[in-house]
Amino acid sequence: MFSKATTRAALLALLLQPIQAQFSNWADDQINTTICIWTEPRAALIRNKIYLDGGNINWLPGLKDGSNGPVVSSGNFQGILLTYNLSYAFTPETNVTGLLLQDKLSKALGGLGQTNGDSPNYVDGALLANDDEFFFYGGLPLGDRLQYAAPAKDDLLVYQVYQYGAEKPLFEPGFHRLDNLPNSVSQFVTYGGAANAPSENLAWYFSGSTSQSGGAIFQNFNDTTRPSRIANSLITLDMTTQGAEKWSNKSLPSTIKGRASSELVWVPVGAKGILVALGGVVFPEYANATRESQDAKASESQSPAFMRAIDVYDVAGNKWYTQPTKDGPGTRARGCAVVATASDSSSFNIYYYGGYDGIDPTKPFHDDVWVLSLPSFTWTQINNGTESHARAGHKCFTPYPDQMMIIGGYTPASGTTLKCLEDGPIVMFNLTSGEWMDSYDPTVYGDYGVPEKVQAVIGGTASGGATATKPAASGWADPDLGKVFDTSYDQKKITTYWPYPAIESAHPPAQPSPTPPSKSGGLPSWVGPVLGVILGLIALTCIIVLFCLWRRRKNIGNRSSTNTSDEAGHRILSWIRGQPATNKAPTETTTEVTPGSPEMREYVYPSFTPSNSASVPPEHHEMADTQLVELPDTTRVELQDTGLSPMDIRERYSHWFPGRTDDGLPSPTRSSLQSTSARNTVSPIKDRNSDSHTAISSALPSPPLPEAGENDEKSLLPTPEPATTPAAEKKAESTDESARSPEGHEFVVSPPTAEEKPGDDYLTVKKTSSSSSPTTRKSVFKEQHDDT
Ligand SMILES: *[C@@H]1O[C@H](CO)[C@@H](O)[C@H](O)[C@H]1NC(C)=O
Ligand SMILES: *[C@@H]1O[C@H](CO)[C@@H](O)[C@H](O)[C@H]1NC(C)=O
Ligand SMILES: *[C@@H]1O[C@H](CO)[C@@H](O)[C@H](O)[C@H]1NC(C)=O
Ligand SMILES: *[C@@H]1O[C@H](CO)[C@@H](O)[C@H](O)[C@H]1NC(C)=O
Ligand SMILES: *[C@@H]1O[C@H](CO)[C@@H](O)[C@H](O)[C@H]1NC(C)=O
Ligand SMILES: *[C@@H]1O[C@H](CO)[C@@H](O)[C@H](O)[C@H]1NC(C)=O
Ligand SMILES: *[C@@H]1O[C@H](CO)[C@@H](O)[C@H](O)[C@H]1NC(C)=O
Ligand SMILES: *[C@@H]1O[C@H](CO)[C@@H](O)[C@H](O)[C@H]1NC(C)=O
Repeated sequence: MFSKATTRAALLALLLQPIQAQFSNWADDQINTTICIWTEPRAALIRNKIYLDGGNINWLPGLKDGSNGPVVSSGNFQGILLTYNLSYAFTPETNVTGLLLQDKLSKALGGLGQTNGDSPNYVDGALLANDDEFFFYGGLPLGDRLQYAAPAKDDLLVYQVYQYGAEKPLFEPGFHRLDNLPNSVSQFVTYGGAANAPSENLAWYFSGSTSQSGGAIFQNFNDTTRPSRIANSLITLDMTTQGAEKWSNKSLPSTIKGRASSELVWVPVGAKGILVALGGVVFPEYANATRESQDAKASESQSPAFMRAIDVYDVAGNKWYTQPTKDGPGTRARGCAVVATASDSSSFNIYYYGGYDGIDPTKPFHDDVWVLSLPSFTWTQINNGTESHARAGHKCFTPYPDQMMIIGGYTPASGTTLKCLEDGPIVMFNLTSGEWMDSYDPTVYGDYGVPEKVQAVIGGTASGGATATKPAASGWADPDLGKVFDTSYDQKKITTYWPYPAIESAHPPAQPSPTPPSKSGGLPSWVGPVLGVILGLIALTCIIVLFCLWRRRKNIGNRSSTNTSDEAGHRILSWIRGQPATNKAPTETTTEVTPGSPEMREYVYPSFTPSNSASVPPEHHEMADTQLVELPDTTRVELQDTGLSPMDIRERYSHWFPGRTDDGLPSPTRSSLQSTSARNTVSPIKDRNSDSHTAISSALPSPPLPEAGENDEKSLLPTPEPATTPAAEKKAESTDESARSPEGHEFVVSPPTAEEKPGDDYLTVKKTSSSSSPTTRKSVFKEQHDDT
């Protein structure tokens, strides 16, 4: 008992380490950073890019001397989304963290480089998506009344990547805020299972947990804001009409038990597909501040059933079924699942990877891969994995039919040091061979083949021909479910976006750094035109001056010299014309140094909408061009002109931001500072906001977040605290006992984000505390006043 408590205390103390934002500030002797663990991001694959929002990232700093610094959790106040562009390959040598960081988006008003007062970072929850857009739904925001108002029940953010349906002349990729969730649907839910069916323009959120009252829930919860009640609902998002998406909330029948952290997959069976819910638990440890299950016994007895009796929802028939299986993996929470369809649709193989029992985060996690094959409803373990490679809280996708890409996750909290994810933040699995792969290459892919171990159970060959066409042991629990399987899904409805064109370099393009690179190849695309204009003006001025001089000379001097001076003028003109080549070098150098400067940032991110184009790092010639110019054109071609008028669009998005009264379209000048200070009128709070605004935006120079702002960083450095100081331990222990103290919520569900140091007033939402206790945050921004 004692040792368990100590381990837990050590673990908690470790997770509560001081803040050090890898997005913006590094240690003095740090040279690089790697994503160590990434707990429960919300993620979606849109065509050829995976968007990853939120979650808790712990970073592993690489230091000058070749060692690694202690893992740090930085928080994500800027609301940064990472992305993985599937055109990029990686090998074990690749800096995958760099690939994830190279094309960031920010939910903050004003985009990257802005501090974030409006969009708290979420852990858990989902991105509900089709092939064009995704909605941020569910999850646990970081509650922080001092920084921002808590999200409203119906206050949703959507990111539209492409437009579809009726033509929207004002369409621009970007974030839009909607507050038209119907009353019956709340976004205050987490730990649900999510599935997207782009071919049906549908997405779902299955069960999960809400607070007792159905009110707001937070990462740093207390008894009121704790996701402690199982939600017996299936939320459906219908994205048929862009801009008029419909939400609905259907109660689960009593035979379908609600649960936390199930995996929901959509399988192309029947008229509109079916949903299959796998795993999940009741009373998970992460729903308790102490990270101990509220009722471990109940969890142990009820949770295994979620893998044994599989719940299936027929979308077209709006009906739930439960089909028993046997010899499955047992209890699993926070794993991930994908579906692979045999070439002849004779079997649908659902792969479930990783996770753990949801009760004890210190025991080894699972690294095994299981296949639930439908319609035979048989389980096969196709890879046992290793303990060191195991993870939970990750997301997975099938970029190609034969490959599973697994992103993020965390490791068991055993021992006193946090173990990073083995093989980095992204790992690949070959669905056909059932083996792990050590690299991803967009040019290497194949058809999906049913793994041999599965063939052994269901019959047939790699390309299909399964002989088991109904549940092997028991037959159909409900013959109607058999009928659903008799209807085949129209596979033609499913659009695929692979193969992805490969990007030459296996490494992300060099990030602009404070030291100017010598090659001119990395020039931002705007340099050309700007240089042209400047040089043009210079040339013009010279010509005018020369012309005047020439006229004067001509007027004053004797006529016989006209010819020669004409020639001279000519020569001078051609010298001017030739000048750009030689003149360019110094100009280039100065412009290349500027990426870190505020002016440059303004130039590169001129548009308000933190859209793709706006976040393109300046050195991407082609990308900036195509995104800005081609995208609206190409998409418009496919659209009918039954569209929404610009007024309609404005109408629809007029609720962009709470408090906005003018037209719904964002203005470039509006900053998060304004909106937060408008809400919080207490003056110390306002000061803190403006401080943080200045500090973070200056420490956050657009694309290569970590690199720049080194000067600012010194002040941002936390006072390093050994992970397990007796004080920290004691604190953790004492809170263990009196878990309901006001500070109790520091022990958050999952690795906490920044500022969760005991005693830091950032989280302990005390009204008076902001000025009373000297905090990291206070000292952090001391130097920033110079900037304003
Ligand atoms: C990976 O690339 C990112 C972005 O360029 C950089 O910040 C990070 O330090 C790199 N990490 C390693 C281990 O090189
Ligand atoms: C990152 O830093 C560590 C520690 O100095 C070093 O071992 C590693 O090689 C670095 N990685 C890269 C890609 O530079
Ligand atoms: C992926 O990267 C390539 C090369 O940088 C770019 O052309 C393409 O537009 C990117 N895709 C997305 C969806 O951003
Ligand atoms: C769905 O509706 C039920 C019953 O009205 C409600 O209790 C539940 O909280 C709702 N679920 C969500 C996620 O809004
Ligand atoms: C729980 O936290 C919320 C907001 O963080 C706060 O409004 C509420 O008073 C707290 N409740 C208790 C019982 O501490
Ligand atoms: C979990 O939280 C609930 C509510 O706060 C509390 O009643 C229960 O005792 C907690 N369980 C454990 C094991 O800490
Ligand atoms: C599978 O892995 C588990 C845990 O890592 C181990 O106990 C078991 O022996 C392994 N089974 C096989 C067949 O390798
Ligand atoms: C996956 O495994 C199969 C069978 O071993 C192989 O043919 C295929 O090339 C592999 N796919 C990739 C992407 O390596």
